[in-house]
Amino acid sequence: MAFNRTLITAALPYANGPVHIGHLAGVYVPADIYARYLRLKGQEVLFVGGSDEHGVPVTIRARKEGITTQQVVDRYHELIKSSFEQFGISYDIYSRTTSPIHHQFAADYFRAMYDAGQFVEETSEQFYDPETGHFLTDRNIRGECPRCHSLGAYGDQCEKCGATLSPDELINPYNAETGNALAKKETKHWYLPLDRYQAWLEDWILNNHKEWRPNVYGQCKSWLDGGLKPRAVTRDLDWGIPVPVEGAEGKVLYVWFDAPIGYISNTKELCDAQPEKYGKWEKWWKQEDTRMIHFIGKDNIVFHCIVFPAMLKAQGYNLPDNVPANEFLNLEGDKISTSRNWAVWLNEYLTDFPGKQDVLRYVLTANAPETKDNDFTWADFQARNNNELVAIYGNFINRALVLTGKYFEGKVPACGELTEYDKQTIEEFKNVKATLEQLLDNFRFRDALKEAMNLARIGNKYLADTEPWKLAKTDMNRTATILHLSLQIAANLAIAFEPFLPFSSGKLKNMLCLDKSIGWADLGRIDLLRAGHALGEVSLLFEKIEDAAIQGQLDRLARIKKENEAAAQEEALKNWRPEPVKEPTTIDEFDKMDIRVATVLDCQPVKKSERLLQFTLDDGMGGRTILSGIAQSYPDPSVLVGKQVLFIANFPPRKMMGIESQGMILSAVDADGKLVVTSVSSPVKNGTAVG
Ligand code: 2FM
Ligand code: ZN
Repeated sequence: MAFNRTLITAALPYANGPVHIGHLAGVYVPADIYARYLRLKGQEVLFVGGSDEHGVPVTIRARKEGITTQQVVDRYHELIKSSFEQFGISYDIYSRTTSPIHHQFAADYFRAMYDAGQFVEETSEQFYDPETGHFLTDRNIRGECPRCHSLGAYGDQCEKCGATLSPDELINPYNAETGNALAKKETKHWYLPLDRYQAWLEDWILNNHKEWRPNVYGQCKSWLDGGLKPRAVTRDLDWGIPVPVEGAEGKVLYVWFDAPIGYISNTKELCDAQPEKYGKWEKWWKQEDTRMIHFIGKDNIVFHCIVFPAMLKAQGYNLPDNVPANEFLNLEGDKISTSRNWAVWLNEYLTDFPGKQDVLRYVLTANAPETKDNDFTWADFQARNNNELVAIYGNFINRALVLTGKYFEGKVPACGELTEYDKQTIEEFKNVKATLEQLLDNFRFRDALKEAMNLARIGNKYLADTEPWKLAKTDMNRTATILHLSLQIAANLAIAFEPFLPFSSGKLKNMLCLDKSIGWADLGRIDLLRAGHALGEVSLLFEKIEDAAIQGQLDRLARIKKENEAAAQEEALKNWRPEPVKEPTTIDEFDKMDIRVATVLDCQPVKKSERLLQFTLDDGMGGRTILSGIAQSYPDPSVLVGKQVLFIANFPPRKMMGIESQGMILSAVDADGKLVVTSVSSPVKNGTAVG
């Protein structure tokens, strides 16, 4: 079916912190490009977003900041909303899941499913804190890891050894917030029986949505292949939407049950407020001729492709037509993380690079993680701005407009006879509209942007090859034709870039005084500006970004890295436990080791080795040299000189880096990985045996 009406949703970000470049690249810029594109094509579009204000992440933030949860969501909702506005994310509505409309709508949705017998009830034993009287989520439970025995493993994972865990496996589980030991208590919950939807989901996705991106289709297939199980849609928490049934006191809807319903309730909020403009909300959610597209990040796939569709199907709503999820964006080679502050926050970017929203939109789209995780680096950001936006697109526009000002008083000159080269240039971009549409229709934003940039390259090359600034001395007619054609390309660029770089396109349209009636449908035409048409004031479309600005960002990240390393070390020390005792051995085995005392006479780093230190020892037996791989722990090895250390005297000699090592110095590995040489506290004769 050909659709003329599209509902676009973009994942609701948790209001537990500002939004960062990963959010923008993964979800919001692609969603916005698509919304703008469809609007430019004349489609009826509704672009819905909002803040996800329930769930554990916001409550954790509140405790961390020492403020109430309400204060957290108020603060971050406003900040996120304002960042989106400033980046030109063109929502029709950006609301929040704490709104009264949403609370009512989500509660009614649950109740309707409950009344229709679409949930199953189950009572199970869950961990709770007897002192606070609260049940705990997996992430809020910590304890000793059953595998590596480190302390502080989470109820869902041990970060030390990477094991996936369940709270039941933890040894001595405790409440991460209070430190209190936990007990078990029975509690009742409502489950969405996904198993009942298995066959239908298999048919709907695996047979009828083969066109979905491979990462999305693949994740769905693996969930389906694993067999779907009922999932709890209620929680024992005091922050959220109360479960609207009898006997559910103290329980709220699971955040992943209420958040996607936010797409519907926000639509309702908008439609109720402006029915003449948007019609009834049901038109967007229940009418067959409306298509729905969910823009999300890869960690949200199962909720948008399996759980929410089951909820929609249960209540007779439309299902998504496509769910173009992106992979993740990393930052300078490391995973973006809110808790580790490893991110470029949009509010900070807006302060550091005022007016450069389009630059970030450009870089994040050109390097979008559409098919695999990608890395954002400040060097790439600078290069794409300086070498592409400034040197190609901006340079072309500036030359075309400045030369028109200089030779033709800022009016579009008349077009003379076209040369073969002119015709060839026109030929090169005559398909730009069809190509862009084909890519955008298939959510290939990265390639589509490349195509738009290619048009700028064509223009830039055309001017560089034809050199009208030289011809102006001898052939004004030819100069006029070249600039006429260049200005047509400039007008095409304003249209082609509009979904991607809305601010720059607006600026360029103003400089060209482009008629408001000219739009996407005119893309590819070479008669957009008539001879004699007066241009507006010319200014630079893009500006160079200097090294100092980039260095400032790199310095900030280096500072954060250091802070994180220090915090990780502190955490490791806190959670350190001795290794379990090794298998039993015998005194005879031990006696084979000849451990002796020696004084360090000299200690130097070994040239060209990052690891090795060379010890010169007085071992009471004529002296010996030992190499030890502890250089990282002793940046100044001279501190060891004069100390008495323990060494194994009867290891066979071994050559490393051309030096013979005659034994092994004993050292201890500290909790943070540092090696500490064991030394003797009261002096003994060198060569004394230890046993
Ligand atoms: O992952 C997240 O940030 C979630 N808050 C996304 C929710 S999307 C939707 F379902 F609301
Ligand atoms: Zn572990």
